[in-house]
Amino acid sequence: MLDDMLDYLEHLREQPVWQPLPQAVRDTFRQPLDNDPADLAAVHDTFMKTILPYAVGNTHPGFMGWVHGGGTPVGMLAEMLAGGLNANLGGRDQAPVELERQLVQWVRKLFAFPETAGGLFVTGTSMANLISVLIARTVQLGKDVRRKGMAASKLRLVAYTSASAHISIAQAMDIAGIGSDALRMIPVNSHYQMDVDALAKTIAADKKAGLTPFFIAGTAGSADVGAIDPLDAIAELAGREKIWFHVDGAYGALAILATDMAPRLEGIERADSIAFDFHKWGQVPYDAGFILVRNGQHQLDTFASPAPYLMRETRGLAAGSPWPCDLGPELSRGFRALKTWFTIKVYGAEKLGHIISNTCALAQHMKQCIESTPQLELLAPVALNIVCFRYRSLDADRINADIVIALQESGIAAPSTITLQGRLAIRAAIVNHRTTASDIDALIDATLGFGEIAENNSLMTQAREK
Ligand SMILES: Cc1ncc(COP(=O)(O)O)c(C=O)c1O
Repeated sequence: MLDDMLDYLEHLREQPVWQPLPQAVRDTFRQPLDNDPADLAAVHDTFMKTILPYAVGNTHPGFMGWVHGGGTPVGMLAEMLAGGLNANLGGRDQAPVELERQLVQWVRKLFAFPETAGGLFVTGTSMANLISVLIARTVQLGKDVRRKGMAASKLRLVAYTSASAHISIAQAMDIAGIGSDALRMIPVNSHYQMDVDALAKTIAADKKAGLTPFFIAGTAGSADVGAIDPLDAIAELAGREKIWFHVDGAYGALAILATDMAPRLEGIERADSIAFDFHKWGQVPYDAGFILVRNGQHQLDTFASPAPYLMRETRGLAAGSPWPCDLGPELSRGFRALKTWFTIKVYGAEKLGHIISNTCALAQHMKQCIESTPQLELLAPVALNIVCFRYRSLDADRINADIVIALQESGIAAPSTITLQGRLAIRAAIVNHRTTASDIDALIDATLGFGEIAENNSLMTQAREK
């Protein structure tokens, strides 16, 4: 199995980025539950034939869809060790929990947070955003909200984020029982950054209307175009208004590791909480999200839930309180810290920073290719590692949607799509450490090729219809 996976990672370029699942293979996943044991080698063989070739392809250097990390062989091996150990990191006195605390310590230092800051590995930034909304809710309404619920409060909470923010913030408002209607979507400027003046005015209007502003989420690396909100200005306003300031830094926060990019995050160190993923720019295999909270006590106040079967002691296995389960909603938790620790230890933080800088440089290379190609048009500024563009056409939305499907099905490259100001764009997010300029060039060349075919097909269809 190890040989197969190392070979797979070594020979990624010889494979298509992605290929559709044939119906016959899909059908193999519709079988009844097996009662009898099967030979391990045979099950492995099935994996090699029916699963491995038909994954999303985010390990491949040509994958640029959504915001997916590429992982590393080191992370894979660490996952094997974690699997063998089968550690449950909910709590108890064990080295794996100490290792997670070590990572929390490193993250605190990275973002210049105090020693008293709390941190926790979670599935991803969606969960981390939810945790931050829940903590801000507890801080605003007091611990009683945990027992009595939102209905017992007379306060009508409102939160703020930019129109470019990730949908998980609205979902967090929904799950927290506050409702996504109570999330104000503040307009963005031409760089897709939150308009802080509009934010201030909206807060003032809400206060005048008797509402209680409690949470502002700035974004560091927006999912649409990779914009970073003016974090320092938002921090200033949040401080003045005494509103919780959260940063959704799903992939962008780790730009803190890149010396050329880190200054763009100015103000992130003033946040009350930061959500981000090691599984994106950090190159750690899925999943490895993280939440950092300036005041760890607020995190405990929001989640710690004593139970007779979770008693703490000062010695023995039940020592070491507080436990990670006191800092978030999960009791049983895997050993995400191990693959993160291995990745940082083996490659070094500096190299991870270089990878981040390099993906941004590749995005600039792609931008230049687009700007020097008359058939292509850039649709948004390129602040970090995301490039949104399209093939020029009178029927551009449909043709570019077709181009993206053709690119994916060709196996050459896998970007995704996005609608920006009502226009469909091809969106390439360069996250993988394996991606090089040749992969960018291949995407551009194939876009031109498929664009020409799609345009001709469209013209032929129009001619037939006439
Ligand atoms: C800005 C932003 N926030 C939140 C998320 C959600 O993160 P996750 O998929 O790890 O839950 C993403 C995912 O790409 C993102 O880009």
